[in-house]
Amino acid sequence: MLHTRKKSREAKEVKELLDPLYGALALGKEIPKYKMPAKEMPAPTAYRIVRDELILDGNSRQNLATFCTTYVEPEIQQLMADCVDKNMIDKDEYPQTAEIECRCVHILADLWNSPEASSTIGCSTTGSSEAAMLGGMALKWSWRKKRLAQGKPADKPNLITGPVQICWHKFCRYWDVEIREIPMEGDRYLMNAEEVLKRCDENTIGVVPTLGVTFTGQYEPVKEISDALDGLQKKTGLDIPIHVDGASGGFLAPFLSPGLVWDFRLSRVKSINASGHKFGLAPLGVGWVVWRDKADLPEELIFNVNYLGGNMPTFALNFSRPGGEIIAQYYNFLRLGKEGYHKIQKACQDVAVYLAGEIAKMGPFEIIYDGKDGIPALCWKLKEGKKYDFTLFDIADRLRSRGWLVPAYTMPAHRQDLAVQRILVRRGFSHDMAELLLDDMARVLEHFNQHPVAKPLTEKEAGGFKHS
Ligand SMILES: Cc1ncc(COP(=O)(O)O)c(C=O)c1O
Repeated sequence: MLHTRKKSREAKEVKELLDPLYGALALGKEIPKYKMPAKEMPAPTAYRIVRDELILDGNSRQNLATFCTTYVEPEIQQLMADCVDKNMIDKDEYPQTAEIECRCVHILADLWNSPEASSTIGCSTTGSSEAAMLGGMALKWSWRKKRLAQGKPADKPNLITGPVQICWHKFCRYWDVEIREIPMEGDRYLMNAEEVLKRCDENTIGVVPTLGVTFTGQYEPVKEISDALDGLQKKTGLDIPIHVDGASGGFLAPFLSPGLVWDFRLSRVKSINASGHKFGLAPLGVGWVVWRDKADLPEELIFNVNYLGGNMPTFALNFSRPGGEIIAQYYNFLRLGKEGYHKIQKACQDVAVYLAGEIAKMGPFEIIYDGKDGIPALCWKLKEGKKYDFTLFDIADRLRSRGWLVPAYTMPAHRQDLAVQRILVRRGFSHDMAELLLDDMARVLEHFNQHPVAKPLTEKEAGGFKHS
């Protein structure tokens, strides 16, 4: 009896093993998509279903729109798998992950020239957006404390920015702060000192220059703004701090532009955020915010929790979060050092500058930013005063048919009339891949030469068809 049962079990197992995956029952019919299936299915089948659907996502290495990491070394993949069970908030249970996070903060503080690099404060976040919220909150809390101590009202805070990433709009809306965003004018796509000064008053909680503006890739002039605010303080007594949004530039300027003074060398710069998962070269899901020194982060924003087994300070919007990205960030610091970061960022910059030169030669395009003094990116518009049978949006669309994502978009206020196209060059986008892209761009232009984009027909041209 026992023998028979064993044999039939073995036969069933062999049959299951021999079943071709795509002959399996679950794969032969439509899978319920918005309701949980009633029954379970074997892991390999479920895996295949999910994997197959993901084929329809774009190929991330050809995504030239994103600022984020799309290539990591196999060792990072391994570390991420090693850390899949680590919750970074459980600092008592994973003290080494906590220690590594702390080391990263001090490494960054040092890289950004904090006078108190070994003792200052900062933390990891899910990305620059969360880091920006924390930086903005610290500005608001510090301002309010000062105003209340002076017996003055503290109900109308404002923040001055250039043309910023959406996270600063979110910060201002979520935390009830008026955003005074300096609009673009003519060929000026950045904030400048003059425009900042026009907007400062006693309710200004801070000024946020961006090191690597999202729309073009250019750096805003932090030192010029800091000097202007020094002048304002001398004249009026207003002491307005700076938070630098270094989402991309925080990991680029130290290696590519070491002479550029934008960081804690300027005493007015109180905090900096950066995305580990952009030019920090870590996998998705990590950002950083660091304060110049401890006193710049108001104590009231720090919570102490004791229910994880120790007494731990926490300052973040999230609680549970994976630890792997932080570990991978530390691995990069160790593995690459300043030399390695410089080599990778310089290679990206060289490709961006090369692409800008070649795209300029194609004829219809005028380069707005060529990758030289900001982030490894380039941005162009159609030359003015000429007629074209296509738009930048048509080019973007056509390039997609070869898998390239080269976004076209219109600029924010006051240049909504201006459409541009942009490429971000990240680690893993080699000179050779750039050549392949240029070939495809040339093909696209040739295509539009042969087949001008059809303009929408008027009713008359379309044969007088009328809806009845
Ligand atoms: C200047 C700037 N700030 C903030 C962000 C938001 O960063 P994250 O995607 O890491 O939240 C970005 C993203 O592109 C950015 O370019």
